[in-house]
Amino acid sequence: MMVARSVDVVLLGPPGGGKGTQAKRLTAAFELLHLSTGDLLRDEVKRATPLGVEAQGYMQRGELVPDELVGKMLMGRLHSQQAGSGCVFDGYPRTLAQATLLDGLLAELGRRVDVALYINVPDEELLARLTGRRSCPVCGAVFHVVHNPPRQEGICDACGGTLVQRADDREDVIRERLRVYHESTAPLLGFYRSRGNLAEVQGVGSPDAIFEELRAAMGRLKR
Ligand code: AP5
Repeated sequence: MMVARSVDVVLLGPPGGGKGTQAKRLTAAFELLHLSTGDLLRDEVKRATPLGVEAQGYMQRGELVPDELVGKMLMGRLHSQQAGSGCVFDGYPRTLAQATLLDGLLAELGRRVDVALYINVPDEELLARLTGRRSCPVCGAVFHVVHNPPRQEGICDACGGTLVQRADDREDVIRERLRVYHESTAPLLGFYRSRGNLAEVQGVGSPDAIFEELRAAMGRLKR
C-alpha cells in the first residue's frame, strides 16, 4: 500500500516483543525508512567509533545508552534523503526525554509522530524469545531456533551468513533490559495514549497475523 505523504510511526514494546520483526514488514509495506536505534548502535560498536566505544558498556549491561548520544546519532539519519517519506522508529523513543526530542526533531521537518503502535507481549514469553533468537550479522535477518528456524541450522536463509546470538541476549542481561523497559519506557504508553495516537496490538501469535493487526491499526490512526 502506498502512502501519499510522509508518515512517522513509533513502534513500542518490550525487548523481544517483535519490534524488529514487524518494523521490517511495515517499512516494506508502507515504503518507509526503518530506523532501529539498537541496530545503529550495534553498527557503531562493530566499527569501534567513539560513540560505539562509549555505548558498548551500557548495552552489555542491558542499560540505556544516554539520551544525548542516541539523539545525536538519530538526528543525522532523520535528515537523510531516505527519511523523507517517513520512518518507522524501532526502539526509539525509550524515555520521555527522547519522546520530547523526537517531537522537536520532527517538528523542524514539518512532521510529527502520526501513530504509536504498541506490541504487547507478557514478560514470561519474552525470555524464551530472546534466548532463542539468532541474527545474521551480514544482512540483519532475524530467526528463532523454535518459532522461525532457518532451513539449515546456524545459516542465514537470505544470504548464507553464519547466524550469531546477540551479546545482550543472556538471561541476566535480558532481565535487566526488562526492568529498564518497565521503569523508563513503559511510561511512554501513557504519553502517546493521552495524545490519542496510541494503538495496542496483542503480540502473541503468528508474525503475519500480528502484522495484519498493525496494518489495520495504522489505517485507523493515521491522520
Ligand atoms: P534494541 O536492539 O532496540 O533491543 P530491544 O528493544 O531490547 O529489542 P530487541 O531487538 O531485543 O527485540 P525486538 O522487539 O526487536 O524483537 P525481535 O523482532 O528481534 O536495543 C538494544 C540495546 O541498545 C538496549 O538495551 C540499549 O542499551 C541500547 N538502545 C537502543 N535504543 C536505545 C535508545 N533509544 N536509547 C537508549 N539506549 C538504546 O524478536 C525477538 C525474537 O522473537 C526473534 O527471535 C524473533 O524471530 C522472535 N519473534 C518475533 N515475533 C514473534 C512472534 N510473533 N512469535 C514468536 N516469536 C517471535
